[in-house]
Amino acid sequence: MTTDTRGSRHWSGLAGAYADTFAHYCAGTIPAVLERTAVPGACDVLEVGAGTGLLSARLVETGVRLTATEPDADMLAIARDALPDGTNLIRAGLPELPFRTGLFDVVIANFVINHVGDPRAGVAELARVARPGGRVLFTVWPSGPTVQAELFARVLAEEGVTPPPSDMLPPHLDFERSPEGVAALCDDAGLADASVTEVAIRWRIHPDDFWRGIEAGIGVIGRTVQSQPDEARARLRASYDDLSRDLLDGDDLVFPATALLAEGEKA
Ligand SMILES: C[S@@+](CC[C@H](N)C(=O)[O-])C[C@H]1O[C@@H](n2cnc3c(N)ncnc32)[C@H](O)[C@@H]1O
Repeated sequence: MTTDTRGSRHWSGLAGAYADTFAHYCAGTIPAVLERTAVPGACDVLEVGAGTGLLSARLVETGVRLTATEPDADMLAIARDALPDGTNLIRAGLPELPFRTGLFDVVIANFVINHVGDPRAGVAELARVARPGGRVLFTVWPSGPTVQAELFARVLAEEGVTPPPSDMLPPHLDFERSPEGVAALCDDAGLADASVTEVAIRWRIHPDDFWRGIEAGIGVIGRTVQSQPDEARARLRASYDDLSRDLLDGDDLVFPATALLAEGEKA
């Protein structure tokens, strides 16, 4: 089986920190995904790139027969603890899933397609394992600055730290992170009646917890902070404490965001 190493490289060793932090950010789309999964006859549901299992756990509660896959062993271990005994949890990832064509009523990937090395091949594989008439749902973050990215741009600028060059996909593999770009991914995968919805998210997290996720190396910001020597990291932390104050609501930081939720029907 081919393994897409881009995502694995970025997530290796981060499962615990992710579970405590950004997993709750990504969980912001769970209500919208569950609403769309509650379609008549949706019995066999596949979640791809299940991470620490927050969405999978909610899917199981709805009574569907869930299969979940995740390529990272540490994420998988956390997901296993979060899911009832007997849940079908498999170590596998895009672009090749170990399932026959047309097996699932609904196939879901929450914030996975934006991490794989070949997003078009990834969506095509989600579509392959859906049954004719079945649904494929996936979420991605749109391009454009987020509140947390703007905060860290100011923190890094204050301390004179230049982020490393971003790890962009080559242009022929990348896609436009917009409703139109995501709809085009669905079209390329042969999904019918594709639609893309903007889902508003408000993520609350304590500043110390958020910093722990960043310091662990999650995301581009995290990799930038983590690569700094200890004393520079301490200065970045002081600037972060200072500059993040405006975002506090009570004890927590609040990060509003918008996710793109794509859905389409397997022809
Ligand atoms: C941002 S996290 C999202 C996790 C989970 N879906 C959630 O909503 O919390 C990205 C996930 O994609 C997984 N991943 C990375 N490369 C992948 C691939 N090629 N196929 C499937 N999943 C992949 C990572 O291991 C990680 O769990």
